[in-house]
Amino acid sequence: MTDTVIRVEGLVKDHFSHFLRKRFRALDGVNLTVQKGEAFGLLGPNGAGKTTTQKLLLGLIKPTAGSITVLGKAAGEKSALQRIGFLPENPYFYAYLTAQEFLDFFAQLFDLSGKVKADRIKELLELVSLTEAKDRPIRKFSKGMMQRLGVAQALINDPDLVFFDEPNSGLDPIGRRDIRQIMLLLKKQGKTIFFNSHMLPDVKEICDRVGILHRGKMIGENRISEICKSGSYQELEDYFMNMISNAEDEYRKTGSVTPYHIEREAQTGPR
Ligand SMILES: Nc1ncnc2c1ncn2[C@@H]1O[C@H](COP(=O)(O)OP(=O)(O)OP(=O)(O)O)[C@@H](O)[C@H]1O
Ligand SMILES: [Mg+2]
Repeated sequence: MTDTVIRVEGLVKDHFSHFLRKRFRALDGVNLTVQKGEAFGLLGPNGAGKTTTQKLLLGLIKPTAGSITVLGKAAGEKSALQRIGFLPENPYFYAYLTAQEFLDFFAQLFDLSGKVKADRIKELLELVSLTEAKDRPIRKFSKGMMQRLGVAQALINDPDLVFFDEPNSGLDPIGRRDIRQIMLLLKKQGKTIFFNSHMLPDVKEICDRVGILHRGKMIGENRISEICKSGSYQELEDYFMNMISNAEDEYRKTGSVTPYHIEREAQTGPR
C-alpha cells in the first residue's frame, strides 16, 4: 500500500483573460508528492501559483494538463473530499451566525448529529480558544478570531488531510502562535498538512518539507532538516531568497525558468 497522499504530475493551468483576449500560464509543469503524515509547505512570491495549486488539488478548478491524485482519487472526488479539511485564503463567514451556529451548520453538512456533533463542536471550540465567544455573532469577531473559527470549520469532519491557504496571514503574534500550535497538534495526530504561507519562521517550525514556486514553476524542493542544517530559521530565508533570485536572473536572461524536476532529471536521470 502506498503512503503517497498527494501526487501531481506535469500540472499545467492556464487562465484566460477575456478582457485582454490572452492566455496566462499560472502553473507550468508542476510535479509534487506529499506523503502520509507529512507537513508540506508551498512557498513562493505573490502570484507564483500557490492558491491555484490548492484549488486544483481540491478539484475547485480543472487543470489544463497533467494529473492529480489526492488520497488515491482524482481531485475533487467526493469520497476523498469527505476526508479533507480546507481553510481558504479569504474565508467567508455568514456574519449573523454565532460561532456555535456556524460550526453546527458545517457539522450537518458532514451528517454529524446528536452527541457526536455536540462533542465535536465543543472540542473544536476549545482547540481554537473560542469557547467563551461561541455565542457571539461572527460580525463581532476580530480577524484572529475569524481565522481560528475557519480552522475549526476545516477540522469539523476530523480530516486526514488538511489544506491551509495562508492560515497565519494578518494575525498578531499571539494569533500566529495559536495557529502554529494547532498545526503542530494536527501533525502529532498524524494528519497530512498542505500549507501555503509567506511566514517562513512558522513554515520552518511546522513543515517537514517545502517546495518553492516561482512564476508557476517548482524551482526548488527540499526537507527543512536539509535546508536548516544548524536549526536556524535564517537558513530557510536564505534558501528561499537564493532560489528566487537565481530564478529571476534566469527569467530575465531567457524569459523562462528551469523547473526543479528537469534540473534533477538532468543530474540523476528520469524517475
Ligand atoms: N481566475 C483567474 N483568472 C485569471 N488569472 C488568475 C486567476 N486566478 C489566478 N490568476 C493568476 O494566476 C497567478 C497565480 O495566482 P495565485 O492566486 O495562485 O497566486 P499565489 O501564489 O497564491 O499568490 P499570493 O501569495 O498573492 O496569494 C497570478 O498571476 C494571478 O493573477
Ligand atoms: Mg494565494
